Amino acid sequence: MAPDPTSHDDPATRVAALRALIDRHAAAYYERDAPEIPDADYDRLLRELLELETAHPELAAPDSPTRRVGGPMNTAFSPVVHQVPMMSLHNAFDLDELTAWSERVERRLEGQPVPAFSVELKFDGLAISLRYENGVLVQGATRGDGMVGEDVTHNVRTIGDIPESLPAGAPSVLEVRGEVYMRLSSFAALNARQVAHADISGREPKLYVNPRNTAAGSLRQIDAAITADRDLSFFCYQLGMVEGGPELTTHTETLAWLESLGFPVNEHTVTRTSIDEVAARVRELDDRRHEFDYEFDGVVVKVDDLRLQAELGADAKAPRWAIAYKLPPEERTTRLLDIEVSIGPSGQATPFAVLEPVFVGGVTVATATLHNQDQVAAKDVRPGDMVIVRRAGDVIPEVVGPVLSERPKDSVPWEFPKDCPVCGEPLVRPEGVAATHCVNFHCDRQIRGRIEHFAGRAAMDIEFLGEKNVDRFVSAGLLDDVAGLYSLDYDAILAMEGFQEKSVDNLRRAIEASKSKPLGNLLFGLRIPEIGQVNAQTLAASFGTMDRIMDATVEEIAAVDGFGTVIAEAVHDWFARDAARDLVSRLAAAGLTMEAARVDDSQEQTLEGKTVVVSGTLRGFTRDGAKEAIVARGGKSPGSVSKKTTALVVGADPGASKVAKAEEAGVPVIDEAAFVSLLETGELPEGSKP
Ligand code: IVH
Repeated sequence: MAPDPTSHDDPATRVAALRALIDRHAAAYYERDAPEIPDADYDRLLRELLELETAHPELAAPDSPTRRVGGPMNTAFSPVVHQVPMMSLHNAFDLDELTAWSERVERRLEGQPVPAFSVELKFDGLAISLRYENGVLVQGATRGDGMVGEDVTHNVRTIGDIPESLPAGAPSVLEVRGEVYMRLSSFAALNARQVAHADISGREPKLYVNPRNTAAGSLRQIDAAITADRDLSFFCYQLGMVEGGPELTTHTETLAWLESLGFPVNEHTVTRTSIDEVAARVRELDDRRHEFDYEFDGVVVKVDDLRLQAELGADAKAPRWAIAYKLPPEERTTRLLDIEVSIGPSGQATPFAVLEPVFVGGVTVATATLHNQDQVAAKDVRPGDMVIVRRAGDVIPEVVGPVLSERPKDSVPWEFPKDCPVCGEPLVRPEGVAATHCVNFHCDRQIRGRIEHFAGRAAMDIEFLGEKNVDRFVSAGLLDDVAGLYSLDYDAILAMEGFQEKSVDNLRRAIEASKSKPLGNLLFGLRIPEIGQVNAQTLAASFGTMDRIMDATVEEIAAVDGFGTVIAEAVHDWFARDAARDLVSRLAAAGLTMEAARVDDSQEQTLEGKTVVVSGTLRGFTRDGAKEAIVARGGKSPGSVSKKTTALVVGADPGASKVAKAEEAGVPVIDEAAFVSLLETGELPEGSKP
């Protein structure tokens, strides 16, 4: 984690800063399933806050993150009140803390024999509560804030490990708690599918980052078909409310009973009779972490006797009878073979470590980013050094620093190369800027970057022209700018390895199809400074034709709603260059659309006066395709939800804020099937009210 400049402040300031930081990271983790820091760092922040609050009771606050279980909720799902709250666990970060916990337990149980402990894995997934009534699954809910969770019943039903019904004689009410997680093998298979899919479409695959967030994201889908597709698993570890169940005396017995009802119980749960034996088991599990087909980030130790559990009770956040021993982020040392610099599509030069491959945190790491020149200098890592590599569960591997005691005598500090490794032209780092760039317009990497951008989904959407192909065509001298796409030498491509008549034909047709992309897409594809997707569409709509844009004065462009002079000058300067004008005229000669599209009124105007917003990935439409389908039927499809929105269509992984906004504004949230019927009939299907 970057050093925190506020860490030397007075306690009150530090507490406020910590709360803000924790809230921010909690939102990233819980609301967006996209953590920005490793769990261990998050825990460290929380712990520092807890220590400060304990040392300065006057600073405690009822809404402090230390009193909260979990994080804020996504309002797309109905709330479920947990009749028995779903508590969190207190953490121990080393074996001394584990021992201290057991001593506290013994003190509270004074006079009674030392209790036995159940020792189990702390699964890294998403906690859920399953409710069965008379043996039938009626509800699945996330933990939420511990008191109120989200109703995810429809998704939970798609998980094969979770029984829909229980054997005869099951209690009238039974709540089973446990963790939904994704197996490493399922995670790998999911990403392999992404790669296969990307290969077909010729694009870079969109890979899932880690099993935990994928599992959490998968469970919180509005469309259960997506959850079903993700192959989630489940382990149970606790009971919630039970009415009419058997008399149980220990946690171990509880797990055995749950297993007899058909729930998956993890086979590595053991009972131990002393804290030393518990510690030995913890060490063993830490060593064996990578033998498992799922991730665990700790070991949970529970007092086994249920009567003693009741006696020990809980504080505001967690039970006193259990503790989570958090395993440290994994670190390994390896040789730093070299530091190389990669050039990004816009010319940015990024140093990265080339490592002797090392297995850390469940993956083999051979490269790790070093971000920029200053980061390399701050860490003072040098080629030839032994370095510490860390990977905390999910985040990208990181080079922590050198092992100085093992530094070779002849080592010298690494120097940033002066020239671009791709084109050999000098690299440039302006004063006060962290990043270094190759600014050669003709650098192969940038040529490729411009073509990749042009072919991208949000621009000309050219299927079958992925990064790999662009790379090969540019290297082979078949392509040096985007206009070259329209006069490609297909015979030469056919002669290249891996190409057949069919693949060449697919490519030719995809490139041909791009000629009819709307002017707004073309403008975006040209990568004019300041012209993102929205500005590109505005520019097209405001001027109507490419010629008018090219001939517009700075004042005319600045007058466009939302533009102003900075954008206007950027556009004007770009079109003032001969090279740009030449490029545009070659694109026009190739037959690309140079006029803004008129509404296609051959379609039945089912969506006249309606506004439909799309979020997430649909299976049958690209993002643009969905918008086009709406506009072609007379509807509007803006990027955000408002009170006037007719419906919000959600695909896989929709934006949480859009869904929340729709809920708030009473806008129906519909899945893809309902969207198709909306397109056809202009009507929302029955029951799709929010
Ligand atoms: S017991 C009242 N057992 O860890 C105690 N929790 O940090 C209820 N977790 O919310 C939890 N593995 O999501 C328990 N074997 C295990 C667990 C486990 C993972 C999660 C669970 C809980 C969180 C607390």
